[in-house]
Amino acid sequence: MPLVSMNEFLPKAKAGKYAVGQFNMNNLEFAQAITEAAQELNSPFIFGVSEGALKYMGMEFTVAIAEAAAKKSGLPIALHLDHGSSFEVAMKCIRAGFSSVMFDGSHYSFEENIRLTKEVVKAAHAMGVSVEGELGTIGGVEDDISVDESDANLAKPEEAIRFYEETGVDCLAIAVGTAHGMYAGEPNIRFDIIEKVASAIPVPVVLHGGSGVPDEMIKQSIAAGVGKINVNTENQVACTQTIRDVLNKDAKVYDPRKYLTPARKAMVEVVKSKIVLFGSSNQA
Ligand code: G3H
Ligand code: ZN
Repeated sequence: MPLVSMNEFLPKAKAGKYAVGQFNMNNLEFAQAITEAAQELNSPFIFGVSEGALKYMGMEFTVAIAEAAAKKSGLPIALHLDHGSSFEVAMKCIRAGFSSVMFDGSHYSFEENIRLTKEVVKAAHAMGVSVEGELGTIGGVEDDISVDESDANLAKPEEAIRFYEETGVDCLAIAVGTAHGMYAGEPNIRFDIIEKVASAIPVPVVLHGGSGVPDEMIKQSIAAGVGKINVNTENQVACTQTIRDVLNKDAKVYDPRKYLTPARKAMVEVVKSKIVLFGSSNQA
């Protein structure tokens, strides 16, 4: 199966009250682990690729790996630019074969965010590519993007609804209290904001910063209208911790396959647990 737009599965997720996972791809092992987990559970999923990950893997390898995953698994998989910072980078990704893009204009003024997102939507939709927009600022650190928690701004429901109506995005990330990276305590998620926005627009709300959010809060978010959940850090932690354990146990290891095989296995378990929690098993 070729890569698909998120519109192949997000409307179904919203109607069926479950969420599809965006799992960030940082290298080949991440891609293999995510695909293996989704195949075992017959779930659609989204490969999220940040600009930093894109720089690390290179455009050709990124697209080729995602296409190979879709072909080998037969699953509906979207290759999605995560937190795209400009119209240009979004277009570059679409030209190279991405089936979906996020334009993160959350650092612009509200009106400018609408104007820029609209441009991306117009061009992307003409090519059958789905678009995610963002409103409010999500705290924490992801790649080169760092937002101090005190500067994180929650989305205002009326603005989010207007943002959707004017831009026509296919899903909308709103800042509701989650943050990128692991949490020191528990996040304070504003389920009321999710519910107000999700009940007023026909597309799903996206929850960023999915790593470390307690299972009960994830379930409540989905019940309130979240239909796409992003997870990156938990896989990074599982991967690195496993490699650290292997190397600590045996300082003579030099074959990367000796630590990457268990690291990949650890990520399969993380992704499987998220797919079950999000309710997207058997929805491929
Ligand atoms: O855009 C990606 C995410 O929001 C991932 O957040 O690393 O906290 O799971 P996370
Ligand atoms: Zn994010």
